[in-house]
Amino acid sequence: MGTPTNIALRLFDIYNRQGFQITSELNSEHVYSDTYIFTRIYQNNRSQTHHLGIAMREVHFLESLCSLRDIRNIFVIGNSFAFSTFALALINPQAKVVAIEIGDEDFTAEWIDRTNRIAREEGLNITVIKGSSPENNADIINREFDGRIDLAFVDGLHTTAAVEADFESLIPFGHDETMFVFHDVLSFSLTEGLSRVVTRHPMDGRVFFATPSGMAVVQKTLPPNYDIFSETYGCSALVQIIINAYRAAKEEEEAKRRQALSA
Ligand SMILES: C[S@@+](CC[C@H](N)C(=O)[O-])C[C@H]1O[C@@H](n2cnc3c(N)ncnc32)[C@H](O)[C@@H]1O
Repeated sequence: MGTPTNIALRLFDIYNRQGFQITSELNSEHVYSDTYIFTRIYQNNRSQTHHLGIAMREVHFLESLCSLRDIRNIFVIGNSFAFSTFALALINPQAKVVAIEIGDEDFTAEWIDRTNRIAREEGLNITVIKGSSPENNADIINREFDGRIDLAFVDGLHTTAAVEADFESLIPFGHDETMFVFHDVLSFSLTEGLSRVVTRHPMDGRVFFATPSGMAVVQKTLPPNYDIFSETYGCSALVQIIINAYRAAKEEEEAKRRQALSA
């Protein structure tokens, strides 16, 4: 049957041919747990790591986002088992993808060389480099990209301070059309760190409520069709109205509960 050309099928196929299995987007209502939305890797039915990959819907999100610009240089912070690294390379076959991975654990360390080997076998323009963000970012970006990135995908250490430092370290290498993309912004409450950087370096920043982790995109100038992209992935006035109405109803419910308790 040959190699699939569709990006989702190709991603799963790459892992299968290496002796791994992947699950992604298992619906909580069907599998009785909400922890299987993100991508997991297994070997002989055994889960391999707690460092989960982005959800399949987030792969589609990146595919739509990347369709808006001509992207040549992609820098990824946090490789784990390379799900987002492979996805970005498959989505952008014209681009060079470089990922930094700290490799603190045996699993993530092994996947540095393994990703590079698989990328060669699959004909993907990927290099994963062992290093720590933000300390090593400037050296790598200068060496690998001549100091210019078109898209950064930040998915390393998930604290407000770490994301702020990651983002700040990337600013000198961005240009007017660079897209800075952040994973897990809502699920790890990272908006504060991002907002501080956007205050120092004014840019458009949006959070997308139709992505499972609540991803954010920050950029100086907006590409054509960004409004329809935003609406498609849950960043619109309508979504804000829905959230506000839900919050108001929740607050009212809570106020009534307190009143009943104190009566
Ligand atoms: C959530 S996982 C990344 C998942 C990956 N982006 C994907 O979707 O397939 C986070 C990764 O970031 C790495 N990491 C954590 N802190 C880091 C740092 N300071 N520099 C580089 N990598 C880091 C971890 O070792 C881990 O592999």
